[in-house]
Amino acid sequence: MRFIFLILTISLLHYSTQDIAEDLKHVLESYKSASPECVFNYTEVNSKTIKFFPQCAKVYGIIVINQNTSLKTSQLEKAFQNMTSLYGGLRIENSKMTNLSFFPAAENGLLRVYCKTYGVYIQNNQYLTDVTSLGAMYMYEDEYGEECDYRIENNTKLDAENLCDTGYPRFFMDLKVKGNMKDCGCPGDEITQSSLPNYRNCTKLYRGLNYENEVMINNLDALSNLEVIKGGINIQDSGVHNLSFLENLKTLKVNNLIVGHKMILNLVGNVILERLAFSNLPELKNMDDKGVKLANIKFNHPSLCLTIEEYCFFLENNVSFINLDTKLCEDAKNETSTLNICRFQSMKDLEDSCNLVIGDIIMKSGDEEHFPKLKDLVYLFGSLVIENTTIENMEPLNKLRYILHLNGSNPIVQIVGNQKLNRAYLPGVQNIITNGNRTAIFQNNHPEFFKDEEGSCSLLEGVDTDESKLRMRLDFAGGDCGEKVDFVYRSSSSKIPTLIVFSFVVLTNFA
Ligand SMILES: *[C@@H]1O[C@H](CO)[C@@H](O)[C@H](O)[C@H]1NC(C)=O
Ligand SMILES: *[C@@H]1O[C@H](CO)[C@@H](O)[C@H](O)[C@H]1NC(C)=O
Ligand SMILES: *[C@@H]1O[C@H](CO)[C@@H](O)[C@H](O)[C@H]1NC(C)=O
Ligand SMILES: *[C@@H]1O[C@H](CO)[C@@H](O)[C@H](O)[C@H]1NC(C)=O
Ligand SMILES: *[C@@H]1O[C@H](CO)[C@@H](O)[C@H](O)[C@H]1NC(C)=O
Ligand SMILES: *[C@@H]1O[C@H](CO)[C@@H](O)[C@H](O)[C@H]1NC(C)=O
Ligand SMILES: *[C@@H]1O[C@H](CO)[C@@H](O)[C@H](O)[C@H]1NC(C)=O
Ligand SMILES: *[C@@H]1O[C@H](CO)[C@@H](O)[C@H](O)[C@H]1NC(C)=O
Ligand SMILES: *[C@@H]1O[C@H](CO)[C@@H](O)[C@H](O)[C@H]1NC(C)=O
Ligand SMILES: *[C@@H]1O[C@H](CO)[C@@H](O)[C@H](O)[C@H]1NC(C)=O
Ligand SMILES: *[C@@H]1O[C@H](CO)[C@@H](O)[C@H](O)[C@H]1NC(C)=O
Ligand SMILES: *[C@@H]1O[C@H](CO)[C@@H](O)[C@H](O)[C@H]1NC(C)=O
Repeated sequence: MRFIFLILTISLLHYSTQDIAEDLKHVLESYKSASPECVFNYTEVNSKTIKFFPQCAKVYGIIVINQNTSLKTSQLEKAFQNMTSLYGGLRIENSKMTNLSFFPAAENGLLRVYCKTYGVYIQNNQYLTDVTSLGAMYMYEDEYGEECDYRIENNTKLDAENLCDTGYPRFFMDLKVKGNMKDCGCPGDEITQSSLPNYRNCTKLYRGLNYENEVMINNLDALSNLEVIKGGINIQDSGVHNLSFLENLKTLKVNNLIVGHKMILNLVGNVILERLAFSNLPELKNMDDKGVKLANIKFNHPSLCLTIEEYCFFLENNVSFINLDTKLCEDAKNETSTLNICRFQSMKDLEDSCNLVIGDIIMKSGDEEHFPKLKDLVYLFGSLVIENTTIENMEPLNKLRYILHLNGSNPIVQIVGNQKLNRAYLPGVQNIITNGNRTAIFQNNHPEFFKDEEGSCSLLEGVDTDESKLRMRLDFAGGDCGEKVDFVYRSSSSKIPTLIVFSFVVLTNFA
């Protein structure tokens, strides 16, 4: 019996060392230009190999500390004293360590770990109780914004309950903390019909809320205690009616860099999904302030509708959509506690102090006197047309902040034939959610239209970063910006536009 165990152990260990050797080869091949004296080409840190540990600021390799590492912390500290960046990764496994305080750079505030070629694994350390130094280790995302494989597992004496909310680990959504004495949340990528009951007590999820291919009509009440979801909501091809089960959700976070395409909300192929019906709209947070907040809603129930509040929520939170295959719910109110909601029929018939207008605003010759009615307009669920008027500026629209344009065939903005208008300007606009046609037409306005700005068209403020371009980009067309175009004069229809289902792609130019 003992003999068999021995063989098993040896073969397991052998396999594991072999594995690390392969991984190390991969890491070092990824950094061919590293200077040889900064490469640590050993599969273990032990009394033999430690003297070869590079005395460089940037070290390349994998630091493996395991049961064979019987070194004093002072020896490790000395070996690692010059290292401020590690390219490769870290594996601390089956070790006798009680803490990880032997990286001087981390003790001084920051150890940079570029771990995309390997990862960080802190596993099965039965004496480990203190991982505070992880708070000062930043595990860098790759060039696409993907986090590296970062796991803290099966350290039976480790209370990791607060780890995920402190220091740098709070940035990471995919960090896996499992099987320790205490963990800091539940893994959202292991939710299935059968595992659901285990989530009853979870208030935090990391690795997102992922629920896919669970076609049975499900009761997801087991998730109703969730307060924080790190990593976005991804529900695909599943039997979910709505999201009202997230009744305690307060915060939904992603870690999405400027270039990243990670979704904060992805709802695809849920054929009975007819409503979002969030009990409380959660705070949406991107750990990278400059990064994008992306959402995608398509192939759900054909009558999936969003309320006015839900559209406003996405607009206000600077969310950009890849697809938005939804309509406005028919029971949409004409008033909310805070907004005066109006349905557009004509400028003449429009009420005086609308905060939200549903329908295309069409201003024609003769409507000039009614233009000031738009002074309180903040939300426009439609497009903006100003044609053949004598207005000289667009000041009544200074408060307009958000445009939702669910009509693919019309330009979002059409400002034509306004002989006295020499500049179009909507200084307050922060988000435009649309069905992909981002056309703005300027033609036949004042001869000096935009001439003071080298003839190039602009309409909004602050469209300067990749993120803001995604939200606020417009495709300018028309003789005032360049080539003359054919366009259709729009006239107000007495019919209230019904917002029907559209499926569209916004991101075609965003790669
Ligand atoms: C690492 O060591 C292996 C043999 O132990 C050798 O084949 C390989 O070339 C070394 N790699 C580097 C980058 O020094
Ligand atoms: C520990 O060291 C022994 C002897 O050098 C080696 O055979 C074994 O693979 C090492 N164990 C691990 C987990 O690396
Ligand atoms: C490493 O750090 C020590 C102490 O901080 C310093 O004396 C030594 O010069 C450094 N070595 C290299 C190679 O930078
Ligand atoms: C970490 O553990 C070592 C060895 O057990 C101990 O000497 C040292 O004081 C500990 N450091 C901290 C910061 O707890
Ligand atoms: C952690 O423990 C669980 C349960 O014993 C086991 O299934 C899993 O493989 C372990 N994970 C690691 C990384 O050792
Ligand atoms: C949830 O917590 C209760 C009370 O502490 C406990 O009895 C129950 O087993 C827990 N359920 C799960 C799935 O952990
Ligand atoms: C949400 O779906 C549940 C069934 O899963 C249903 O009982 C509830 O009425 C729905 N709520 C809304 C607002 O649609
Ligand atoms: C949305 O972006 C604007 C800048 O265009 C910024 O001022 C505003 O604070 C952002 N809102 C949110 C909720 O991030
Ligand atoms: C909202 O107002 C329109 C007319 O402007 C009316 O047809 C509709 O029934 C009203 N809806 C509600 C929910 O009151
Ligand atoms: C606007 O003016 C143009 C040229 O004067 C005219 O052809 C067009 O019919 C007018 N459009 C409307 C809607 O009045
Ligand atoms: C977008 O608007 C322009 C100008 O009206 C129109 O020519 C084009 O066909 C529209 N594109 C789509 C996809 O609806
Ligand atoms: C889109 O615009 C066209 C042309 O103005 C109009 O006939 C149609 O009703 C509009 N559709 C919606 C959904 O607003």
